[in-house]
Amino acid sequence: MILKVNNLHKKYQHADGVINALDQINFEVKEGAFVTITGSSGSGKTTLLLSLAGLIKATSGEIYFRDFRIDKANDKELSDFRKNHVGFVMQTFALIPYLTAIENVMLPLAVSRLPDSQKYEAAMDLLKLVGLENRKNHLPKELSAGQQQRVAIARALINKPSLILADEPTGNLDPVLSKEILDLLSDINKKQGITVLMVTHSPMAARYGTIQIQLQDGKINSIT
Ligand SMILES: Nc1ncnc2c1ncn2[C@@H]1O[C@H](COP(=O)(O)OP(=O)(O)O)[C@@H](O)[C@H]1O
Ligand SMILES: [Mg+2]
Repeated sequence: MILKVNNLHKKYQHADGVINALDQINFEVKEGAFVTITGSSGSGKTTLLLSLAGLIKATSGEIYFRDFRIDKANDKELSDFRKNHVGFVMQTFALIPYLTAIENVMLPLAVSRLPDSQKYEAAMDLLKLVGLENRKNHLPKELSAGQQQRVAIARALINKPSLILADEPTGNLDPVLSKEILDLLSDINKKQGITVLMVTHSPMAARYGTIQIQLQDGKINSIT
């Protein structure tokens, strides 16, 4: 198992009352799976993804990444975990506007001791993988939305993650571009064996999941 979630709860204290954003969540993910998480707005999808990344603390419950306890880890352990194992892909791409495509892809390696030539080569290989080697010197604003998401996916891969966490990666894309991005994620999952967890609104995107989790009001409605 790459992920195991035991009895996870997340409560938000709010002036308007307590919100049970996650309520008794249990599931396991095998290495190499493609998991989709669906549910209406406010059902807890983002909260679940952020908890798995160790970016927010759950109220109770256990989260394992292999034998590493995410819920028990300190900030340094969590940032090492994310750096070494996790690639993030977001709805809004989150590219740095004043960096070119290749500079955006290399960015996570800024702190690495690799020589610059190797960073460049690694980033170039990934731009090729996502079909953008001829756009390497373009700024994000000089790329289409689909191309920007491809750059973001290349950036998510630069640290050779074992897990990709994607929050509505096709939320800002039309159906044709969405399918291209989903096929790309599916390819990466199949060919490189990288486990993918993808939150999505779209039933078309959900069908890419080998495991499909449905959330409703913070609870698991179904796993198929
Ligand atoms: N920081 C927060 N403080 C208080 N309530 C929050 C916070 N973040 C999310 N929530 C609430 O938790 C619930 C789940 O939110 P979220 O995980 O963002 O849902 P989804 O991603 O499925 O739309 C919602 O009711 C939301 O209003
Ligand atoms: Mg969300």
